[in-house]
Amino acid sequence: MEAIATLNRHVSMRRYTDRPVDDDTLHTLLEAARRAPTSSNLQAYSLLVVRDAATKAQLAHLAGDQRWVAEAPVFVAICADISRLAAAANMHGAALARNTELTLVAAIDAALVGMSACLAAESLGLGTVMIGGIRNHVVEAAQLLGLPQGAFIAFGLCIGWPDDSQRPPLKPRLPAELVVHHERYQAGDLAPALAAYDAALAAHYRGEGRGSPDDAWTGVIARGFSTPRRPELRAALETLGFDFS
Ligand SMILES: Cc1cc2nc3c(=O)[nH]c(=O)nc-3n(C[C@H](O)[C@H](O)[C@H](O)COP(=O)(O)O)c2cc1C
Repeated sequence: MEAIATLNRHVSMRRYTDRPVDDDTLHTLLEAARRAPTSSNLQAYSLLVVRDAATKAQLAHLAGDQRWVAEAPVFVAICADISRLAAAANMHGAALARNTELTLVAAIDAALVGMSACLAAESLGLGTVMIGGIRNHVVEAAQLLGLPQGAFIAFGLCIGWPDDSQRPPLKPRLPAELVVHHERYQAGDLAPALAAYDAALAAHYRGEGRGSPDDAWTGVIARGFSTPRRPELRAALETLGFDFS
């Protein structure tokens, strides 16, 4: 039940106190995260812990000037990493066959271990926020952290002791009936439920004192996702050693 309670109170935390995150606590949560299931036991990820203020400041900039990346005491770069697989194959005179499947495997492994780290951290009372913005400059970020060929930062995880006076209320999720299906996918007219969700999310943002359009979810998607995001990403990942064939 503890895991359920921790999951049910998750909010992304973007403000932290000055209290340091000690090495033992970090070790505990990362070791727990490393129990995450992993495709074919490949463990196609790496966790790169950044505490150095200057490096975090550069990462914050690369992620689109996200203040909390610089302010969090710990930033863990959650990397998709197939470099060890290449080394293992090479030990036997073989070459790693890179393709879309292997790229997806590494990204999924990274997501699973990253979510486990998030859950472990939050179960210890820490606050976290994931940072996909780092993929804005995926090559520069890889160079900054000295990643080998065959690794990229899938997302970052900011970790710190939360400033509970700034804890936001839970962000509403889509209604379960739109997301959870039983036996067969229930497709229907989504518009009424999505409009209701727009209203709930707008009320949530306004309750936080933030402005929000009435179409807080559908409109943001329509305006922000009707042109491809990060169109250069595929080519960038190819330069880092990933394949999409
Ligand atoms: C893979 C991933 C990348 C994310 N990237 C960012 C980010 O770059 N910056 C940020 O402030 N939040 C980021 N988030 C946090 C989401 O915005 C947040 O989880 C979502 O709005 C739901 O809010 P909640 O986590 O507070 O419930 C990311 C979340 C995920 C899962």
